This record gives sequence, structure tokens and C-alpha cells, in this order.
Amino acid sequence: MTDSDVELEARLVEQETFEPPESFIDQANISDPDIYDEFENNWPECWERAAEFLDWEEDYSEVLDASDEPYYEWFSDGTLNASYNCIDRHIETGRKNQTAIKWEGEHGSTRSYTYQELYREVNEFAAGLRSLGVEADDVVTLYMPMIPELPIAMLACARIGAPHSVVFAGFSAKALATRMNAAGSAHLITADGYYRRGEPLDHFGKAQDGLADVEHTVEATVVVDRLETNSFGHDLDDNQHDWDTIINTHQGARVDPVSRNAEDMLFLMYTSGTTGKPKGVKHTTGGYLAYTAWTSHAVLDLEPGDTYWCSADIGWITGHSYIVYGPLAVGTTTVMYEGAPDYPERDRLWELVEKYAVDVFYTAPTAVRAFMKWGKSHPGSHDLSSLRLLGTVGEPINPRAWKWYYTNIGNESCPIVDTWWQTETGGMMISTLPGIGEMKPGSAGPPLPGVDASVIDTDGEQISPGQAGYLTVEKPWPGMLRTLYQNDERFIDEYWREYSDPDAGDWTYFPEDGAKLDEDGYITILGRVDDVINVSGHRLGTMEIESAIVSTQGVAEAAVVGGNHEIKGEAVYAYVITEDGYNGDAELRESIIEGVEDAIGPIARPEQVRFTEELPKTRSGKIMRRLLEEIANGEEIGDTTTLRNPEIVDEIEAKVSSD
Ligand code: PRX
Repeated sequence: MTDSDVELEARLVEQETFEPPESFIDQANISDPDIYDEFENNWPECWERAAEFLDWEEDYSEVLDASDEPYYEWFSDGTLNASYNCIDRHIETGRKNQTAIKWEGEHGSTRSYTYQELYREVNEFAAGLRSLGVEADDVVTLYMPMIPELPIAMLACARIGAPHSVVFAGFSAKALATRMNAAGSAHLITADGYYRRGEPLDHFGKAQDGLADVEHTVEATVVVDRLETNSFGHDLDDNQHDWDTIINTHQGARVDPVSRNAEDMLFLMYTSGTTGKPKGVKHTTGGYLAYTAWTSHAVLDLEPGDTYWCSADIGWITGHSYIVYGPLAVGTTTVMYEGAPDYPERDRLWELVEKYAVDVFYTAPTAVRAFMKWGKSHPGSHDLSSLRLLGTVGEPINPRAWKWYYTNIGNESCPIVDTWWQTETGGMMISTLPGIGEMKPGSAGPPLPGVDASVIDTDGEQISPGQAGYLTVEKPWPGMLRTLYQNDERFIDEYWREYSDPDAGDWTYFPEDGAKLDEDGYITILGRVDDVINVSGHRLGTMEIESAIVSTQGVAEAAVVGGNHEIKGEAVYAYVITEDGYNGDAELRESIIEGVEDAIGPIARPEQVRFTEELPKTRSGKIMRRLLEEIANGEEIGDTTTLRNPEIVDEIEAKVSSD
């Protein structure tokens, strides 16, 4: 480090608050702090401001219908089409030649779609879907890598009113089958493969394995030829079709956007919960699209003409809301990148920021920590001066990583929005507004205008500043999930039961996060308080991983916890009891890891597998995960007096230190 670096670092370590730069404020979409009062004083009508970002076919007469809490409805008698709102209307307002999607493949191949070109292909694929028998309200599963055909397929589904269920391409065949079975989905769109760190991956092989476990008839599968060389030698069956053939057969076709009620389902997204079974989060057409458009405008500061890049995968909610729906609804240019951030070199992302002159960049803290580890010479060798705003999402960002991002990527001239939200919330909920709020590294900020989030104690009382408690949301918001697909009971149990008082007509949403509040009303998220762990910003249920481990031959019992990890935030630590006659050896460890990758995917791969004779259990037989977490983190062990077998804690710890 040079002397000036040392000085800079010393200054930044001390600095706890950062003001948005004047140059940003001058051009910000929102810079008047009155917005908070305007929303509060005019709630729920304030949310019309979000609905105004959309073109409605039939206007709505009521903003919020709260007659059947907590089944809230937003703009409920309005009608619209999401694909029309993301494409057609931009063409009608003279922006047909503006770029909608810029795509970069891992090997440097590129594709770009203007809004007109996007319109053409979405229409052709929508006609293709219809010819394959897809009708309004049929759930279509998309199991696709980061290629333009993924947003095209999503928008084609939206055009004909068929909800999509996107399954992250990194998930395993079994995970695909579980989700198709749960949704009763009879149509699958997938791809032959994609590139990851230079290697072609056999995605269609995985999709085929998944299809073999689907319990109902799958009417049709469409396969995009991404690799352009039948590398893995798969042939298509009669009900499996090549994407290009479908498009060519429907060349020039036009499909009128189907009129959807605001409350009709736009998509389903499966996410991990406390039990082993993923939850099918249901999002609707009007409220979700209005909310993602509004937050893209207010928080990401996007407008038509901006080039915006969110480096997430569309297979997660971040990609749905802030690569596809929000940015396209506000008419911006959205960048998609197929591959790994360090391929071929660790400056790949910065090369792309420079190449495309990206204005706004949104990523996960885990990526920022990796960039920090790789060193500032990588961004330093590129011109990043096009950037005006940076964002993070998915997990807490530690102040050191925040400051590194601020200095080395933002050149101290871009505000950072640390956005807290969830699959269930549809869009951002807690964040500073970049043209208004002072930033405090590590703290997401105040709730957004119109969002009524608080931090409470176990009795439901507001906590005092400085203390830790549970995050709750008291009032509904347009982007919220409407229910868990075909499972209203679980919807109530998971999100509403804990802090609501239905008899008093009081409904409180519980996101299952712990949080801290400061005297300025800024919220610092402390992480999940349920059995969900957050690996590299990806949400995994410990139960899902445990059930994969216990189905490995030779395993009697397992407990999984999240332990701290320098880059990933949290990593999977597994504690395993072997069956009689089996040894906790390298071979068993390997088959456990394989079993987890098979059941879920490589992201759930345990960082460590520890074999033990017993697990620490309370007298009622409940595993005390807190102790296992403390062991994983090498922390001081807390109270063990309620354990039936306190001696086991020392034994596991001793084993860890001898490994
Ligand atoms: O624990 C919170 C964490 O991610 C969880 C939601 O995960 P998922 O539904 O997969 O959505 C991730 C992308 C929106 C939350 O319950 N989380 C999300 N954003 C933040 C965060 N934790 C701290 N700070 C954030 N900005």
C-alpha cells in the first residue's frame, strides 16, 4: 500500500456516515425528503404513485382491498398485461430502437435486443407456447441459464397469462422435479447447456433426469441450443422441441397481450423455508409490477436510457425483480452476463462495466468480499467513471466491504444502496433513498416510504434504539406475496401467526430476520432467526440439507448449521452421526457431499462434515443448533445446562481442534 492508501484506509475506518454526492442528488429521481411524509400521510393511496408507472387497460377503482386480511389485494379490479408494460408501450412511445437487453456470454460472444427485437421474439415464442398447448393460468417451468431466452420466455408466458416458475439452473435434477411436481407444471423450457469457467455444462442431461422424476405427464419441453454443438449427444423426443424451430415456425406471429386482472398470478418462485419442502411464493401482476417499477425508479434511480447491470442470476428473486421486470417496466437497458466473475480473469466484471458504460451496478456482498480479496488492481485497471450508483442485496454487508466498494468501485462518488428485501416481499423494503439519505455502512437504512417496518421484542413491543429484536412489517405493500401456492395454511403459519392478533384485527408480517434499530430509525439486519442459512446471498433451508444427508447410506442422523465464512457470509457445517457398522471416513464424507449436490445443487455443498457420536440435545430431544454454530465459528460456548448430554459439546470441540 502507498502512503496515500494508508491514509485513505485510516480515514475510512473512522468514518461512520457518508452523504450522497451533490452531483448525484442534482440528477436523482427522488431528492425531496418530503416523500416520506407524503407516503405516510396518504397511505394507502400513496401507492398509486407506483401504479402510475404502469399502463392499465382497465383502471382500478380501489388501491387496497383489506377486507380479508391478511389476503390483501392491490389495485384489484384493474387489468393489465406485464409483457405489454415491459415491451409494447416503450415501442409505442418511440423507443423501439433503444436497447432492452445486452447479453454477454462467458466466451465473449454478445447479443443485444432492442425493444422492437424483444417484442418480435417474445411474440413468436408466445405463439409457440400456445401451439404447445399452454393456456392462461398453466404454470410453465423455466430451468435455464443466463441467456436472453430466459427473460424472453418469462415475458412470453406473461403475454399469454401463463405464470412461470423459474428454477435456478444451478439446482439439481431432483430440485427441478420437486418444483415441477409441486406446481403441477406440464411444460418445461430449458437449454442444452451453458459455460461456466470455460467448461460447457450438460444442462439438458440434468433436466432429463429431473423429468424422469416428474409424477404427472409433461406435455412439452423446449430446449434452447446454447452450446451450438450437440456436445453431450442428446436427442430430442417427440414432445421435446428445439427453441429455434419453434421461433422459426412462428416467424412474424403477433400475440395480443392477454388482459390480466391485477391480482392474477404473474409467477411462482420456490424458496427455502424451515421445513424440507420449498415454499411456492405467489406474486401477482399489478402489485408486483408496480412495486418493482417504483423501487427501480426510487432506489435504483433508473430511467430510460440508463445502462443498468445487476449481476445476480435470474433464477433468484433479485433477477426477476431487478434484471427483468423492474428495469424493463421503466424502460432501461438491462445487462445480462452468462458466466463467472473471475473468468477468464478477475477483472471480468469491470471490463464489462467499462465496455457497456454501466450507470448503475447492483450485486451481492459476497461478490464484494471476493473482489476485495482479489485486490483493487482489477477494478483499478478499468475506467469505471460511467457508474453513478451502486447497490447490494441478499445479506448483510460488513462496513469494511462497504467501504472497499465505495472507494474502489464507486471512486467515492457513487452512493450505495444496501437493500433489504426477500423473495416474499417482491421488491426492496429497507434502504436509503440514494438522493436523500445519509449512508451508514452496515446498516440498510430506514424503511422505504410507505413501508411500515419496525423492530420489536418477543412481546411485540417496539425496542429502544441500540437494542436487537425482530423485524416486522405492520402494513401491507403492493409487492407482497399473496399466499404460498395452494397452501394458505402454511402462508399464515410462516408469516403471520407469530406477531399478529387476528381477534383485534391486527396483522403483522414476520420476515424471520433479526434486526437492530438506531436513534435515526436506521435498521441493521442481523440475519435469519429461523432454520434458514444464507450462503453467498442464497437462501438454503437447513432441513433440506439435513434430509439430503440422512438419505445417504451410512448416516443415522445429521444437523446442519450456518457458520461464518469470509467470502460466502455463511457456509454449511454438517454434524453427522454414522449408522452402526459405518465409519466416519473420507469416503462417507464424499458421498454425503455428493448426496447434497444431488438433492439441491453445488451451492448447498457442506464446507465441513464432522462426524460425532451424538448431537447436543435438550431433555425434550431438540437439537441445540446454537451450540453447533458456536463450535463452527470457534466461539466461546454458551449455556449448556439445558442439555441432556452436555459432555458431547466438549467432545465435538476437541475433535474439531484435532482435525
Ligand atoms: O435474511 C435476509 C437476507 O436475505 C433474506 C431473503 O432471502 P431471499 O428471499 O433469497 O432474497 C434475497 C434477495 C432479496 C432475508 O430474509 N437479506 C436480503 N437482503 C439483505 C439481507 N440481509 C441483510 N441485508 C440485506 N440488504
